Amino acid sequence: MREKWSSRSAFILAAIGSAVGLGNAWRFPGLAAKYGGGAFIFVYFIAMIIIGIPLLMMEISVARHTRLGAPGSMRTLRKGSEGIGWIAVSNSIFVSIYYAAVFAWIIMMFFMSYKFMGLTGNTEAASTLWLDTVKATGDFSGFDIISWPVFGCLILAWVLCYVCIRNGTTTVGKVVKFTVSLPVICLVIMAFRGLMMPGAMEGFAKLFIPDWTALADSNLWVDAIGQVFYSLSTSMAVMFAYGSFLSSDSNVVTDTVIIAFADMFISLLAGIVMFTTMAGTGMLGDMSASGISTAFIIYPQAIVKISDSSVFNMIFAFIFYFCLITLAIDSLFSMVEGASTAISDKFHLNKKKTTLALCINEGIASLIFVTGAGVAILDTVDYFINSYTLIMTGVAEMITAGWFFKTTKILDEINRNTGKFKAPSWWFIPSIRIISPAVLIGLIIWNIITLLKSGGIYGAADGYPLWANIVFGWCIIILSIMSGLIVKLVVKIRSSKGFTEDDRSWDDAGYS
Ligand code: PHE
Repeated sequence: MREKWSSRSAFILAAIGSAVGLGNAWRFPGLAAKYGGGAFIFVYFIAMIIIGIPLLMMEISVARHTRLGAPGSMRTLRKGSEGIGWIAVSNSIFVSIYYAAVFAWIIMMFFMSYKFMGLTGNTEAASTLWLDTVKATGDFSGFDIISWPVFGCLILAWVLCYVCIRNGTTTVGKVVKFTVSLPVICLVIMAFRGLMMPGAMEGFAKLFIPDWTALADSNLWVDAIGQVFYSLSTSMAVMFAYGSFLSSDSNVVTDTVIIAFADMFISLLAGIVMFTTMAGTGMLGDMSASGISTAFIIYPQAIVKISDSSVFNMIFAFIFYFCLITLAIDSLFSMVEGASTAISDKFHLNKKKTTLALCINEGIASLIFVTGAGVAILDTVDYFINSYTLIMTGVAEMITAGWFFKTTKILDEINRNTGKFKAPSWWFIPSIRIISPAVLIGLIIWNIITLLKSGGIYGAADGYPLWANIVFGWCIIILSIMSGLIVKLVVKIRSSKGFTEDDRSWDDAGYS
């Protein structure tokens, strides 16, 4: 018997927990600041409706039907597409390895929040708190420098992750009640404080009033579409896994719309927090599009200027980093859950043991981020995965569903048990078959051209060398693409010991 969500809300909250993460808290406000506030939000909203929601619906409903994780679901659509599912699993594995490192930095800042006590007005000291503790060199040197506080927090991060998912849907369903509601409460508290600050309205206006001239910047379009992708947690194995635990009478259309709108709402709420506090502390112009510097270098400077009371500022720091902890943890564990579901489905393994093995191995791999080179490595891996592999996986999934499988069957599955509110075919079919793949392929080409124009080396301006781009960028992409072949090899070895692969067609996999 396949595990199931204990209730409809358990599934919705788990999916929201995965979607809502650091991308909402800092990437979204940073991009809005960079691209004319409301103008960016407008494009983001349109991309969500045309590209994001159809893909999310497809992933969840196909997995509900097949009751399998990403590779099994893709295999059911078309045998040769199983490899696409494994690329999605690789995405989850690679992203979770560095997401855990960011999570560890957040935990560390949470523990260090008491230090804000004596720093009122001292922006200089606030800006170096994180940097001094992580001992980052800023480039690819310093593999022998180890930050022990980060090391400790990283172990804690993986232990927390394992504890949350050790019993699959049973534990996840309980944890997400807290990890989804607590950050919303924290954000509302911070938004109130932000809105009460003198000058806050200037920030509010900057966030919502569109500067339409920004639409002429092609990078706005690229970043808005990329953000939709990252934010909804699609193209990873996550939404397949979560969808596969649904019962056949669930309502995919309404649930997906709730998930996507909750994700957008929380991005806007985080935007209000960021823009009003920054405006209130006179730092609106300092907002950066880079999430890491916002959370660890710029925002700490705003914290020490939030009020004249040391204690108040310290409490604010605790709330801020606590909020980030609760935002990040359910995104992190969703990725591990996505990978462990896929692997245990394929090889008929005990899921709990698979989860433990994944946490241990990924934990070991993430140790690279406790070294002095950690920040530069993270920056590189993050760029390559987000600009290429994630989007490529999405395109491949949609082409399989749109061209190699009868797309109307998927639409029927989406619209099963939905009552009146159905996904219209004039919206879903053209999106999956033509519009989204075309836009996304354009996006990848655009990213490649931009990279080549900058000399073909990501981070060249920061002094990143070519070898680092190859090792932490291209090699990871190639490894992801080859993951399907690696799995095939393992299947071959195992079949000599009597292992047989599951093979079900769409019609067989259906509900009896
Ligand atoms: N959606 C998450 C965020 O916005 C990141 C994430 C991506 C989590 C993919 C899981 C899978 O932070």
